[in-house]
Amino acid sequence: MEKKSRRTFIKFGIAGVVSLLIVVWNKFTLRHINQLKQVRKVFPIPKNRLVTFYRNFIVVKRDKITVFSSHCTHLGCEINRLENNKLVCPCHGSEFDLDGNAVKGPAYKRLKKIPSQIISNGSEIEINL
Ligand code: FES
Repeated sequence: MEKKSRRTFIKFGIAGVVSLLIVVWNKFTLRHINQLKQVRKVFPIPKNRLVTFYRNFIVVKRDKITVFSSHCTHLGCEINRLENNKLVCPCHGSEFDLDGNAVKGPAYKRLKKIPSQIISNGSEIEINL
């Protein structure tokens, strides 16, 4: 009987440690994403490119220009690849359509849209991260 309760205790202990690690990992990832919020950037509008990848954001140019965070909504890896009109995360293979919707997991949340505006007579774009 005592062996069983010891095993149960160890199982709950391991589950607790794993839960704690997940919480700490999420906090670091969210902190990294939150640091991006305080940046204002102005840059030339990419010409003749459907998708342009930058360090912290992605510009999708179709009928209108849309800017997304390049940080995957799964664990925050930087999305840096376009395959079959899908934005692909290099870490675990999540895919997002060009509207930012998650179309293949493990990520299930859409990409964060970044407010942007066209300035300088249409030659530049300003984003507020
Ligand atoms: S971090 Fe992008 S799929 Fe896991």
